[in-house]
Amino acid sequence: MSDKRIYSIDVNSRVGESVTLKGWVNVIRDMGKIIFYDLRDREGIVQIVLTPFDLSEDEYSLAKEVRPEWIVEIEGVVQERGEKNKNPNIPTGNVEILAKRLKVLSKAQTPPFEVSEDTSKVHEETRLKYRYLDLRTERMKSNIILRHNVIRLAREYMYDRGFLEIETPFLTRSTPEGARDFLVPSRNYKGKFYALPQSPQQYKQLLMVAGMEKYFQIVRCFRDEDQRGDRQAEFTQLDIEASFISQEEIMQVVEELVKYIVKELGSRFGRNYKMTFDSFPRLTFDDVMKEYKTDRPDLRKNKEDQEELAFAWVVDFPMFEYKEGDGRWGATHHPFTAIKDEDVEKIFTENPDLGSIKAKQYDLVLNGNEIAGGSIRTSDPEILQRVFEILQHGKEEIEEKFGHLLRAFSYGVPPHGGIAFGLDRFLMVLAGERSIREVIAFPKTSDNRDPLMNSPSDVSQEQLDELGIEVKGEK
Ligand code: AMO
Repeated sequence: MSDKRIYSIDVNSRVGESVTLKGWVNVIRDMGKIIFYDLRDREGIVQIVLTPFDLSEDEYSLAKEVRPEWIVEIEGVVQERGEKNKNPNIPTGNVEILAKRLKVLSKAQTPPFEVSEDTSKVHEETRLKYRYLDLRTERMKSNIILRHNVIRLAREYMYDRGFLEIETPFLTRSTPEGARDFLVPSRNYKGKFYALPQSPQQYKQLLMVAGMEKYFQIVRCFRDEDQRGDRQAEFTQLDIEASFISQEEIMQVVEELVKYIVKELGSRFGRNYKMTFDSFPRLTFDDVMKEYKTDRPDLRKNKEDQEELAFAWVVDFPMFEYKEGDGRWGATHHPFTAIKDEDVEKIFTENPDLGSIKAKQYDLVLNGNEIAGGSIRTSDPEILQRVFEILQHGKEEIEEKFGHLLRAFSYGVPPHGGIAFGLDRFLMVLAGERSIREVIAFPKTSDNRDPLMNSPSDVSQEQLDELGIEVKGEK
């Protein structure tokens, strides 16, 4: 057989020619003598006609044996379908391939669910256990391709704007983003632990101290928090930081980035959206809370319309919020966030009204989701020190947790700020999905398990001994 494989989508321009196709048998219609396969490859579907007149006896009986999801190679001639048999619903609907040769490349068990159909209604546990089958479905494949395209466009834009893509460590120490850390035991230093980063926040600020000026990264973040439709224990941020930049300038860069992605998705990748606002409105935290009772309002004109994208900025968040659970004040965003100039003095007064202090913090909301959040940072060590005190970190604790950052700042720190996109959430909205799990190739269940790899899992006693770890209570 000839090796010159073409994709299903390429058959339209090859009428009359002999071609080779490889792919998965999506659907079989056995009409007695004549058999039809819908052959599926990454680019689409094409109809194959298999007859006893065009195939050898052996190949024809093989054709009868083939089941859905078997992987086959077919050599055949592209022909126009008869008028009555044309299918306007698929891009290759005017043609079909009259098979001359058939080869089975891989047999397949019957899948636990139909992969030629949408799997939204299939039990999620089953979908995740057989994720490699779930990803064969049209909807999931198209979500994964959308993800690829958005990441590609984001990179294009950031490179163009002179941002350096820099990786930062996963094995690090706790960062105060407000969730619980995932800890990684250290074999060499028994009883000590690395923490997986909740975000690269401190590293990106250190990169500003290092003079990198404009940084970005598409990076995994880890937060051991309770899962919801819009949350995963590991998720992806498009993380950005820049020096000598104002809040206004960061918001401009982000707004243009978003507009670039949306525009190019339409012109290059056939994904068309309607933007509710040409220029993203800026709403203050106090106003949105008053008007919408949430800090992530859904501002779409027509909430039924899946293609509508209503981006808006929420600004002027309070710097501190009272954490009922902890019975003390915490940072609304994180302690490195700068306080608005007019409120800075307040923190140096006795008993300041913490609730009234506003921060240079901004969130980007989209159709009722918080898709990005960031702030200008405090680069004044005196202010940072005072914020830590307000957050009731003792002197030793400050040195232990943030000493490295304060030390770095003492060597000169440019004014800087940044933002991070929750890429999965942005994609969830772009894909018209309700859960970020639908736009992640291998997500965890809502209770944090991976049914495919079966994790988290037990480890051997030997591994535990090596790490000096003893598991308390029942395993
Ligand atoms: P923040 O914690 O607001 O900021 O996170 C930024 C964005 O990440 C998304 N996000 C999540 N997505 C999925 N699952 C989660 N568990 C999850 N948690 C957050 C949200 C959010 O807007 N270092 C700062 C950014 C900065 O100041 O530059 C940070 O991480 O869309």
